[in-house]
Amino acid sequence: MKAILVGLGGRGRGWLKDLKENPECEVVACVEPMAENKARAVKDFGVSESILFDDLNTAVKKVKADFVVDVTPPAVHHKVAHTAFENGLHVLGEKPLSDKYEIAREVVEAGKRAGVKHMITQNYRWAGLPRTTKRLLGEGRVGPVGQLDVSLYVDWADAPGSHYVKEPYMFLTDMGIHHFDMMRYTLGTDCVSARAFTWNLPWGWHQGDACQIIIFKMANGVIATHRGIGCTMGHVPAGHNGEWRYDGPKGTLTWEGSKLFHTLKHKQNPQIRDEIALDEKGTGGPKVLLADFLAALKAKQQPECNAEDNLKSVGMVFAALKSAQEGGREVKLSEL
Ligand SMILES: NC(=O)c1ccc[n+]([C@@H]2O[C@H](COP(=O)([O-])OP(=O)(O)OC[C@H]3O[C@@H](n4cnc5c(N)ncnc54)[C@H](O)[C@@H]3O)[C@@H](O)[C@H]2O)c1
Repeated sequence: MKAILVGLGGRGRGWLKDLKENPECEVVACVEPMAENKARAVKDFGVSESILFDDLNTAVKKVKADFVVDVTPPAVHHKVAHTAFENGLHVLGEKPLSDKYEIAREVVEAGKRAGVKHMITQNYRWAGLPRTTKRLLGEGRVGPVGQLDVSLYVDWADAPGSHYVKEPYMFLTDMGIHHFDMMRYTLGTDCVSARAFTWNLPWGWHQGDACQIIIFKMANGVIATHRGIGCTMGHVPAGHNGEWRYDGPKGTLTWEGSKLFHTLKHKQNPQIRDEIALDEKGTGGPKVLLADFLAALKAKQQPECNAEDNLKSVGMVFAALKSAQEGGREVKLSEL
């Protein structure tokens, strides 16, 4: 399968490595406007200058390809997707679908009209913790979940000048999309509404708000909360995954660092405190996403993280964002 890689920034270089290492893929073009990032791809990855282009429109005229991997900033994603769709190319796009909900919705429709596969890289949900949790919840290990609480304390995205520190609400939109997608995935349900409060701490390095408390109502009645600080100077208990706690009538499933526990205590004899071996290890990096995308292309099926499904996770982001902007009002996803 012939790939065009668009965007050779921090994440794009990781994709270049994974695409080059995959025996099923051939990188036929790389697209990047910044001279410095192009030069780095030549020096560090041996990319031939003859396949480096400044823009995707030029690249698609010069090379034959099957799909595009889009690793540009969120505000650019729809432009890349439209060019790919117009040229009949499948798209494996970095999250988030877009920085605007209306644009995300419109891009999803455009991909459907073009009849191509359009996948978004929600890699977090592919890791061992969410995969095993989903299985255990499906088997009824803690009974029907009533409440899910997620906390995320991280010293997140501190490179000066990056879009992460300059744009508003990046902690909510950029990190939130992974976590909200994992909420939907593990609970097996969609979100109905969000109430959110966001703010910044005096020492924070982000121009946008990097702290939040969000309350989601899920379609199956579960209350799911997300609270976090993206600019902590102190303890980071569980990396970018955060700590997760599912409460049901038969106890809790908890993510404690990289470990998963089932606990059942109240008035129990014997009590349960089991560490559960993870079905799949690893961080759910680009390799696993690429494998799923290629499998979907071969099977002519939509991948698990197809853009149409992903729009429901994007909806959680933008309902929370709208709520935060409107003083914490309950915002239904149907309003978006
Ligand atoms: N899935 C994950 O865990 C994960 C992790 C990091 C980043 N990301 C996502 O990857 C994307 C890129 O993030 P990044 O950290 O690499 O950003 P970055 O700013 O380091 O790199 C973006 C690159 O895109 C280039 N670019 C901008 N406009 C372009 C255009 N029109 N055509 C081609 N290239 C263009 C920029 O010059 C830059 O080199 C974002 O959507 C981000 O959210 C995802």
